[in-house]
Amino acid sequence: MQKVLVTGGCGYIGSHTIVDLVQAGYEVVSVDNFANSSPDTLDRIEQITGVRVENMAVDLCDLAATREVFAAHPGFAGIIHFAAHKAVGESVAKPFKYFRNNLLSLINVAECARDHKVACLVYSSSCTVYGIPDKLPVTEQTPVKPAESPYGRTKQMGEQILADGLKGTDTRSISLRYFNPAGAHTSGMMGESPLAQGANLVPAITETAIGVRPVIEVFGDDYDTRDGTCIRDYIHIMDLARAHRLSMEASWAGKLAGEPEFINLGIGEGVTVLEAIHAFEEVSSTQLNYRITDRRPGDIPAIYADYSKAREVLGWEPEFAITDIMRTAWEWEQRRRTQ
Ligand code: WQD
Repeated sequence: MQKVLVTGGCGYIGSHTIVDLVQAGYEVVSVDNFANSSPDTLDRIEQITGVRVENMAVDLCDLAATREVFAAHPGFAGIIHFAAHKAVGESVAKPFKYFRNNLLSLINVAECARDHKVACLVYSSSCTVYGIPDKLPVTEQTPVKPAESPYGRTKQMGEQILADGLKGTDTRSISLRYFNPAGAHTSGMMGESPLAQGANLVPAITETAIGVRPVIEVFGDDYDTRDGTCIRDYIHIMDLARAHRLSMEASWAGKLAGEPEFINLGIGEGVTVLEAIHAFEEVSSTQLNYRITDRRPGDIPAIYADYSKAREVLGWEPEFAITDIMRTAWEWEQRRRTQ
């Protein structure tokens, strides 16, 4: 049974990826220090898969502790590195916290991957590396532009650190550029559990619907888009999770030419904020209380993906649409409040 290391394994994307890996027959070791997640997630993974995944509560900014993980588990076939802080707004307020945590942890993991000749390191990157794209949809050839936040800059720098640090080694780096991850596991037993109130749109919608938030603010309706609100490419968390496994499998099968490799993960459909709100109202048969407010600094008007590379080299196709995102997110929001 091939063994895979998943850092940030108790986070939103990490946990869904672990479920996908375990159900596909892989042995998984998680590393998560619960900085932005809860050990309860390991119970949820076990409820869904029947497997108790080992988690090592290690701070990956500590090189000696990171080395211990690899000493305890020689022979990882692949690594998926999620562990990072990801709140755009917080990164503006605390840039050093973001540069230290996101880059130091990445460097330590990548150095150990190189020393242990791990075949591939899949990196959690983001469409924020494109800044404000000149042309849509965005392909992997779309020029990278100055990021709009320190968070986005850590993603850009992370890609370059991997490109330089793993060049000429046995470890291939694969940077997956996520668009907007959203939704919850179709089992209804796991989903996004932001420790603080969700800053992202979909948790903000479900928190408003369930009443823990009085109203949802729509950050501006004066953009140059079809209804004036921002356009994003929302990708279901299970579609996103599956793409991580397919990336490693494609690398092991010699199907990836790039050293490093960059792959967009979005579903190629742009949805405005108001369209997302109306999609939620439709699937939940509720009326959402929202109001239009000022623009949020740093927001870009529109971005959505061309995912043809993921289709061609990974054999990946999205299986969920915005309505599935809203249905599963709503199911989870209702259930998580009763647990
Ligand atoms: C989406 C749209 C908001 C909340 C960020 C990061 C990205 C990734 C996902 C980590 C925007 C609008 C939102 C609200 C609103 N981060 N909105 N009211 O900013 O596209 O992407 O999160 O993985 O890297 O950049 O996502 O969900 O915050 O916003 O009107 O209460 O919804 O203005 O247009 P974003 P988001």
